[in-house]
Amino acid sequence: MESFSADWLALREPADHAARSPALTARIADRLRARPGRHAVDLAAGSGSNVRYLLPRLPDVAHWTLVDYDAALLAQAWRLVTPVAREAGVGFDVRQGDLRALETLPLDGCGLVTASALLDLVSAAWLQAFAARCRGAGVDVLCTLSYDGRITCTPPDEGDDAVRALVNQHQRTDKGFGAALGPEATPAAVEAFEAAGFAVHTAESDWVLDAAHQELQRQLLAGWAGAARELAPGETARIDAWLARRLAQVDALASRIVVGHVDLLAIAP
Ligand SMILES: C[S@@+](CC[C@H](N)C(=O)[O-])C[C@H]1O[C@@H](n2cnc3c(N)ncnc32)[C@H](O)[C@@H]1O
Repeated sequence: MESFSADWLALREPADHAARSPALTARIADRLRARPGRHAVDLAAGSGSNVRYLLPRLPDVAHWTLVDYDAALLAQAWRLVTPVAREAGVGFDVRQGDLRALETLPLDGCGLVTASALLDLVSAAWLQAFAARCRGAGVDVLCTLSYDGRITCTPPDEGDDAVRALVNQHQRTDKGFGAALGPEATPAAVEAFEAAGFAVHTAESDWVLDAAHQELQRQLLAGWAGAARELAPGETARIDAWLARRLAQVDALASRIVVGHVDLLAIAP
């Protein structure tokens, strides 16, 4: 099963928040204004980044429940969400749970299910069952920051295409839900939610990483190199050389990396 460190989630948070689609957030805020008092459930909440972004922007949500299977991340979420919820006068709780047991999701009285950086980890079968579960509960769904397979590094390097292809192949390996959708997550989600009767809206939410994101760039590049080595051990020397060139560009404040993501809002019929 995949685990994520609190440090990594904290490092990516500013890029995540800057990348998100304000238009989709505004659209769901309008929808909730017409149906106030609903609860919202954030799946794969990690240390609560998604809720800390959404809670002040969705003032008509009466209570947030954060679900994750990682107790340490939920403890961090409790610490970090508490001041935000107190300031807004909104209740919240955290629940340790496994998303693979879809029937256990606490959707009673819920108007909105949210998740960020989740859909690329799940399988096509899970996604279809998730759409059916949300349809049954009559909830809207906002899933943000799903990786879509695009990586553009500037200045370009001769090794970029090969590493990107390996990264995208690695994205499709099992992350605990069966073969992951990886870059296919958003098209698969559009299809699953439309088939379940939802009205679906999408918007690009790319990370744009420049000299202000040096450490995030370094860790991202190292992570990509690790994924590439895992799938192509025979290419290790070439991958290491690529990583060294790219890290030198980061150190020289000359590197810019765009990582393609998509936000998706599905409105229940
Ligand atoms: C990429 S992190 C995203 C965390 C958070 N949403 C954010 O944007 O910072 C993915 C999260 O999914 C959680 N996760 C992965 N598989 C899970 C499962 N089967 N059940 C519950 N949580 C899971 C991990 O613990 C991690 O917190």
